[in-house]
Amino acid sequence: MSFLKTLSIQHLRNLNEVSIELSHKINIFYGDNGSGKTSILEAVALVGLGRSFRSHKTRSLVNHQQTQLTVFTHLDVSDIDVGSASIPVGVQKSRNGTGAIRVSGETIRSAAILAKQLPLLIINAGSFQLIEGSPVQRRQFLDWLVFHVKPEFAELWRALQKALKQRNSLLRRDKITRSDIKPWDHELVRLSQVIDSFRSEVFLSLISCFERCGQEFAVDQLNIDMEYYRGWDKDLSIEAALENDFERDCRDGYTHQGPQRADIKIKSKSKPAVDVLSRGQEKSLICALTIAQAHLYQQSTSGNCVFLIDDLAAELDKQHIETLTKWLTELNAQVLVTGVNKEELFSPWNKDKTDVAVFHVKHGEVESVELLAAELGQ
Ligand SMILES: Nc1ncnc2c1ncn2[C@@H]1O[C@H](COP(=O)(O)OP(=O)(O)O)[C@@H](O)[C@H]1O
Ligand SMILES: [Mg+2]
Repeated sequence: MSFLKTLSIQHLRNLNEVSIELSHKINIFYGDNGSGKTSILEAVALVGLGRSFRSHKTRSLVNHQQTQLTVFTHLDVSDIDVGSASIPVGVQKSRNGTGAIRVSGETIRSAAILAKQLPLLIINAGSFQLIEGSPVQRRQFLDWLVFHVKPEFAELWRALQKALKQRNSLLRRDKITRSDIKPWDHELVRLSQVIDSFRSEVFLSLISCFERCGQEFAVDQLNIDMEYYRGWDKDLSIEAALENDFERDCRDGYTHQGPQRADIKIKSKSKPAVDVLSRGQEKSLICALTIAQAHLYQQSTSGNCVFLIDDLAAELDKQHIETLTKWLTELNAQVLVTGVNKEELFSPWNKDKTDVAVFHVKHGEVESVELLAAELGQ
């Protein structure tokens, strides 16, 4: 189990001084447009990813009147190896681009440690990129799971990036021969094979899990077909693909084929999903895929994910909202969910609402709302 017990935010967009205690289950944030709801989820993303999901420019996150922002949380973690612990995590970002991440009082250099401790799954307006965007988004979607279930993956991926960078800079030199590039090809071949085997294994589990939850989201009626593309010609080994592409790679100065080009091809009724699905159908597909991710994560790690769901009702009808909330309840996940309408956000959760915390967000201030006995169904 991992969950955020407290959340303090200073000077992030319009949130100047927020300090709240969260429920380890459902946390509802409601308020008018522009009140600061998405910014709260951004604060959690800073803690879990080391960056925002909305903007890569730190400058835009820091409150206009301030020079730096901070987000602080106590992360409650319990697992079989470590027992239970409360880990203080702080992230600080300055307008000039510098920043620091501290975990249990120590400064850490890589946000990967945060991602391991706090496995975040996000459903927001950016999620449509999974269907409409470039292969990068679909690769990241698959790799999120691979990263969590195959501990060696992060290191392999870093090594691949390094080997590619070196191979590409060699390709840009004059008069380069096949034998000059051979040592890098050896390294790329080795890494590509392992990365591909991890990805294809995880992809297969994801598909079978997706087929089960897809039915409840009525996604099965869309005849979704997903195919993993490993990043190089399906009839060739990676060695042969690199060998065949040598001239093209030299001409363009980069490596055309390899795991860095992997993708998931998503089709509906044999046509690219992006061309045929409505926004609502895309959203249902995204929900089913994200729930499948969370299931597999739980199965393989015995941990739970933390969900950030921005604007729950956007593009989802009542039935789909109920399906999503039902799955989230079953997953036992901590959920932070936002929306404009308090009732609409509150009613779909099951009868026992004792684990639901409600917060009203108003002009950058966040206030915990006491629930009435009637609302708790008592
Ligand atoms: N750097 C900033 N400094 C101060 N206010 C900001 C900054 N960036 C955005 N805002 C304002 O913060 C508010 C919060 O936005 P947001 O979290 O997206 O609201 P919501 O999700 O509730 O609609 C908006 O009114 C926006 O104009
Ligand atoms: Mg918003």
